[in-house]
Amino acid sequence: MVLFAGRVFKRLIHPGSNWGVLTDRKSLMPEFSLLLGDRRAGYSSMSGIPGVRERTLIAVKPDGVHRRFVGEIMQRFERKGFKLVGLKMLQAPEELLSQHYQDLRRKPFYPSLLQYMTSGPLVVMVWEGHNVVRTSRVMVGDTNPAEAHAGTIRGDFSIHISRNVVHASDSVEGAQREIQLWFHGKELMD
Ligand code: TYD
Repeated sequence: MVLFAGRVFKRLIHPGSNWGVLTDRKSLMPEFSLLLGDRRAGYSSMSGIPGVRERTLIAVKPDGVHRRFVGEIMQRFERKGFKLVGLKMLQAPEELLSQHYQDLRRKPFYPSLLQYMTSGPLVVMVWEGHNVVRTSRVMVGDTNPAEAHAGTIRGDFSIHISRNVVHASDSVEGAQREIQLWFHGKELMD
């Protein structure tokens, strides 16, 4: 980031430079690509930014699919700068959901959660990028949409905890477990 800011500053103060330099997309691309983890610019996983290849599992739940929010949700993650590395649509088997929600099996709401999650197809995705687990939890918002801030997915598109549109892994370890549960290694882009 410091390197990037330094280069832009140097160009701005360089004799003969003008504001047009900021639209010189080609010459600035490597710096942007570095931040976005883009390998085409020659920056691989060895970019030096810690956690740049962190991954998380995001799932649009049946109510989100039914209400046509898949595109909106994907767009939010793309615009933020994260990279889509896995995507599938499926009717989730109960067994898979019971593993996914293994910590909630004894909760009173578990049977209705299972019923809801099997009521229609899910769109399950893996997103990659710096700090993606924590940032995506912020973008998704509080579990209870009544508490979720406006501007978050749940804050904008839902009103009840039992229909909260989207799932996001809540820790790096949880994300690794969930990604392995929902995807085979070969289904993920590297
Ligand atoms: P949880 O893992 O606690 O939240 P989050 O999805 O934010 O990680 O709960 C999983 C899902 O269970 C939650 O998204 C919605 C549902 N749920 C209920 O239906 N009622 C409840 O009281 C809670 C806590 C969760």
